[in-house]
Amino acid sequence: MVSPLVALTPTVSAAIAAALGEEYRDADPVLRPSQFADVQVNAALALAKKVGRAPRDVAAAIVEHLDVDGLADSVEVSGPGFVNVRYSDDWLAGLLADVVADDRVGVPTEARQTIPIDYSAPNVAKEMHVGHLRTTVVGDSLARTLEHLGHRVVRQNHVGDWGTPFGMLIEHLLEVGEHSSEAELLGTDPNAFYQAARVKFDAAEKAEPAGSAGDFDTRARGRVVKLQAGDPDTLRHWHELLDLSKQYFNRVYRTLGVTLTDDDLAGESMYNDVLADICDELEAKGIATMSDGALCVFLDGYTGREGKPVPLIIRKSDGGYGYATTDLATIRHRVQKLGADRVLYVVGATQALHFRMVWDTARKAGWLTDDVEVTHVQIGNVLGADRKILKTRSGKPLRLVALLDDAVTTARSVIDGTRPDLDDDTRATIARQIGIGAVKYADLSVAHDSEYVFDLDRMVSLTGNTGPYLQYVVARIRSIFRQVGLDPQAQRTAVTLGEPTERALALKLLGFGDVVAEVGATYEPHRLAGYLFELAQSFSAFYESCPVLKAETDELKQSRLTLSALVLRVMVTGLDLLGVEAPEQM
Ligand code: ARG
Repeated sequence: MVSPLVALTPTVSAAIAAALGEEYRDADPVLRPSQFADVQVNAALALAKKVGRAPRDVAAAIVEHLDVDGLADSVEVSGPGFVNVRYSDDWLAGLLADVVADDRVGVPTEARQTIPIDYSAPNVAKEMHVGHLRTTVVGDSLARTLEHLGHRVVRQNHVGDWGTPFGMLIEHLLEVGEHSSEAELLGTDPNAFYQAARVKFDAAEKAEPAGSAGDFDTRARGRVVKLQAGDPDTLRHWHELLDLSKQYFNRVYRTLGVTLTDDDLAGESMYNDVLADICDELEAKGIATMSDGALCVFLDGYTGREGKPVPLIIRKSDGGYGYATTDLATIRHRVQKLGADRVLYVVGATQALHFRMVWDTARKAGWLTDDVEVTHVQIGNVLGADRKILKTRSGKPLRLVALLDDAVTTARSVIDGTRPDLDDDTRATIARQIGIGAVKYADLSVAHDSEYVFDLDRMVSLTGNTGPYLQYVVARIRSIFRQVGLDPQAQRTAVTLGEPTERALALKLLGFGDVVAEVGATYEPHRLAGYLFELAQSFSAFYESCPVLKAETDELKQSRLTLSALVLRVMVTGLDLLGVEAPEQM
């Protein structure tokens, strides 16, 4: 299975080599979409300077050697040195027939690699906030896509389940009792549980006289020491805390339709046993040194103000380990135990320096080798209408659950308006699909490292580059097939490309496999979102200008049904890779 672009590339490279010399065979042929042609070859502009000739001359020389027999029916130089290529209809129809027959609708299967993906990673006993929404949604889309491309994806939910707050959280849990309504908050509103523990702790700290053994703060501190020492009773309480938190995470994941399960939990605590080892090995290798009582790694090229070296602290002066130590253990585990070929970290952009320092240290230690590609997929902020980080009116970070509830309610009012004929249950299902799909799509349709403004009304709109617009195209095609009583999966006749909108739609459909492969290579799901939006627009244009059920001949009707069925299959596959549901009706 090849796309037009992939098929054309070696032909253009051969022409460049013949026109300009063998040394240019590997030059980028610069194939670009264009409104004046099916594809534009822009290599002449890029190469003109190098070969010391006018761009138009270079373009003419390339055209002279371009052997596009059967592949294109017109090739011409235009403007300052573009080469406009128009594919031949027969060739396109042939390629399209291959995609129609292919259950993967043109998506390649790549050589299998092992790819751990670190994503979501909320903190135990804290509410997931909007920031976690993005790492969860983008990470899940990358996991789905890389899996679909044939890779072994290992989901790693690096939850924050360890550290000093757990002393106070456990003490609070003990006081309120495991089966109390306060403890239940962990599964429904974990922030409230955390805040209650915090308030107690802060009050006890301020109270006089300080440091008496029965005080909450003193007990909390003692609990941290017991936890780190592996005291069985303390560990049991810690597990209780974790189990209640898991319920909360899972509820959010199920609501969002995210593929993470308990099996994917790989939190900070998982590495407790090896942290001492990590420090010892780094010290023995001379990579870590003592500084002001703390064990630190100083790396070349990391300096702060006035050229002062910035340390990566791996053991604090009180003997405790931190976020950096756990992440060193994590990368070693992923390379050595999981056998990673690539590792993705879908984490907030603010942690970029942390990861660079951790990986550079791991490279020095030999835990991270050159054959393993590590990438920080940087996640940008979600903003409110005031263009500041999204907060509630009281200034607290917005609860993810509240936000998702809002989205479904807003979608419900849309569907109540457009489909009053449907029964209550059906409308509820559709509202959930649209509401959640809208939030996820809005997130996935912008570059993962840029910021965006959270605007629910725009997100659930049925027009524009929104999830519901794409879902609507799916529902519309399904309704056409329901109307004629045909199965779109089985609709695989030959396609004729007569009308311009038919041809444009076919060209778009042929690009799906390339886009999915691109997302797998660049980790940018917004490219797939953009593609699906263009496909939806191409379909709408086709549907407006070409009668399907009322086509002039039965052959043409079958051909157009096949095109529509292929749009449906590509759309459903694409939305699934984004993690967005495709409704039966809307
Ligand atoms: N729990 C962290 C947070 O909420 C994110 C963890 C990301 N993964 C990692 N390996 N450090 O910010």
